[in-house]
Amino acid sequence: MKGVVLAGGLGSRLYPLTKITNKHLLPVFDKPMIYYPIQCLVNAGIRDILVVTGGNSAGDFLQLLGNGADFGLQRLNYAYQQGEGGIADALKLAEHFAEGEPICVVLGDNIIEGNIKKAVDDFKGQGGGAKIMLKEVHDPERFGVATLKDGKVQKIVEKPKLPETNLAVIGIYMFDEKVFEICRTLKPSARGELEITDVNNEYIRRGNMTAQVLNGWWTDAGTFESLYRAATLIRENGCNRMDV
Ligand code: G1P
Repeated sequence: MKGVVLAGGLGSRLYPLTKITNKHLLPVFDKPMIYYPIQCLVNAGIRDILVVTGGNSAGDFLQLLGNGADFGLQRLNYAYQQGEGGIADALKLAEHFAEGEPICVVLGDNIIEGNIKKAVDDFKGQGGGAKIMLKEVHDPERFGVATLKDGKVQKIVEKPKLPETNLAVIGIYMFDEKVFEICRTLKPSARGELEITDVNNEYIRRGNMTAQVLNGWWTDAGTFESLYRAATLIRENGCNRMDV
């Protein structure tokens, strides 16, 4: 299993903080944002990691992260996303890196209190397909929202105006090698991006998607409110803990 951190985009919801730097280089309490998703993968036992970046200050990632020594890694891999094509567009850049292996994808602004070790191990035993992680939230309209039936995901709606449930699809996804073939079939959404939700809905349609509710808190950090919230949660509870 290999890991992919998606850290591109313009971070327009955090403007002007992102006017001259990449969102994922901004501080979240005591570390740059990108440290948290990388640590999340390392804690799950994943050591072969690709960082996909783009937009402003892409070169700074190399200077900040180097070969991954801060995470006990011997090397890190990097890819550069041209333009603003969305999450599933950035993911296409991981195909060469994945070499047919399953991948765990973490959005660069997603931070969790606990760890995904068990979910990753469960996925390895699943025999292909995909797995998503869910979390109950009070503002589901900001996220992809899952509808379940008998514990199985029926559908995911991206940022619904009237959410059917309060189960947000968090930005941690596990995919088999078919994800790249699916990415190639996608059409841009109304916001002009290739949506990860469309990838997940295709796995649901094929009948090989599983879902697991995450323990501990989860937050994104892509808006002023959530960036502030993330720093507060980390300061008060710690994050990427192995005991949660
Ligand atoms: C993205 C996904 C969304 C998911 C969210 C998690 O949203 O499209 O389905 O719930 O990440 O952070 P975005 O941050 O691109 O608006």
